[in-house]
Amino acid sequence: MERFLRALQIFCIIFFCRALEAREYKCTLNEDQICVFRGVQLKTDDQIMASSFASIGKPPRNVKFEQSTVTSVPLGMFQAFPNLEEYDASHSGVKTLQTSSFSSATNIRELNLTGNKIQQLGNNAFQGANKITSIDLSQNVISEVKENAFDGLSHLTVLNLNSNQISILPSKVFAPLTALESIDLQYNSLTKIDDSQFETCTNLVSLNVSNNALQKFDLKQFLREWSVDSIDVSFNRLKVINIPKNVKKLIASNNQIQSVQVLGKEPQLIFLRLSQNKLTNMDQVPSFNKLVTLDLSYNEIETVDFNSVTKFKNLMLLKLDGNRLTTLSNSMISQWTYLKYLTLSHNELTQINMDVLKMLPKIIKLDLSNNKLTTVQTKDFSDMFPVMVRLMIEGNDFKCDGIASLVKELKYAMAEHKVTVDKCKRGQRLMSGICCS
Ligand SMILES: *[C@@H]1O[C@H](CO)[C@@H](O)[C@H](O)[C@H]1NC(C)=O
Ligand SMILES: *[C@@H]1O[C@H](CO)[C@@H](O)[C@H](O)[C@H]1NC(C)=O
Repeated sequence: MERFLRALQIFCIIFFCRALEAREYKCTLNEDQICVFRGVQLKTDDQIMASSFASIGKPPRNVKFEQSTVTSVPLGMFQAFPNLEEYDASHSGVKTLQTSSFSSATNIRELNLTGNKIQQLGNNAFQGANKITSIDLSQNVISEVKENAFDGLSHLTVLNLNSNQISILPSKVFAPLTALESIDLQYNSLTKIDDSQFETCTNLVSLNVSNNALQKFDLKQFLREWSVDSIDVSFNRLKVINIPKNVKKLIASNNQIQSVQVLGKEPQLIFLRLSQNKLTNMDQVPSFNKLVTLDLSYNEIETVDFNSVTKFKNLMLLKLDGNRLTTLSNSMISQWTYLKYLTLSHNELTQINMDVLKMLPKIIKLDLSNNKLTTVQTKDFSDMFPVMVRLMIEGNDFKCDGIASLVKELKYAMAEHKVTVDKCKRGQRLMSGICCS
């Protein structure tokens, strides 16, 4: 009896193993020539064997999992499909990247592992995938990245690590990525970035580290002869920002910035967003000859002299909303025709004489809404602002018996200013399209 049971047991084990060996997963080519594995639950043992994978139709170049569970990157897949160029296992329950998973992935170009449960990137995590150009690891739970994690990836141009839990990056971790053009690190927990973190990434043109906890980040490491398109450091805790001359677009909103400096001569900056910081004066922003857009909204600016715009030779859009402006001044002695858009809403202006803007005759849109204006003094409005098409003055405290001359001036102006009664505050009524009480 015992023998019989033993024999049965062995038989069962063999049979079970056979069953395992025989397991084969097939993908089907869809209309986009992507071979799709749908609804598969890959067993750990199967993932390593080439014989586990087959395709209906010719051997695929692109593979994708849908509604499937693949706990790691299957080594066998790349052996079975040696020409594979794109591998998409996004949202597929991937938990680990085992060393040597990519040893046969010699032709892989794009790897998409977004929305998985990967916790760690170990040393040589992508070893073998030497031709890879794009890796998407966003929306995982990566908290640790080993120093040699990206070794061998000298063709990588795009790396997405958005929405993970990385708090520290080894200082040399990106050193092998000499072709890197774009990196996303937003929504991590970074508290600092090394001064030479990106030093060897000389092709980098786009960096996003927004929504971290950075207290310090020295942008000097991007100072080069050729340009960097865009750096986003918004939603951090920076107090100082140094802008290398070769950066074209910088987004540094929602920090605690009190100091702005330029590194190098003839800065290329075109776009600068510094909203939601702690600047107290527009003159804290140094001169940028090429700047077109300057956003200083929601800072702590109390006074402004529009003459400051002349140090930005090409400035077209100036945003000063949400500051603490009570009065405006202008010491310009000749006309300045570059500025086209000026926003001053949500300040504390109680009155304004439009003469303060008469040296800025090319304003197209002026936003004075949501201040405490009781009156706007103006004479020859349409001559002074011949191209203005929009004047926003809603959300103020106009007195109905004090706006007759304003109404008259605006009647013949091209600038649209009228609002409907639903835009008026409680207790206000509409008079010629202006809310007043
Ligand atoms: C990765 O896949 C997701 C969908 O699961 C897609 O939204 C994302 O754009 C892909 N990433 C890349 C780099 O193609
Ligand atoms: C950087 O990431 C933030 C947060 O996801 C996003 O809102 C922003 O548009 C990105 N910046 C750039 C320049 O793409």
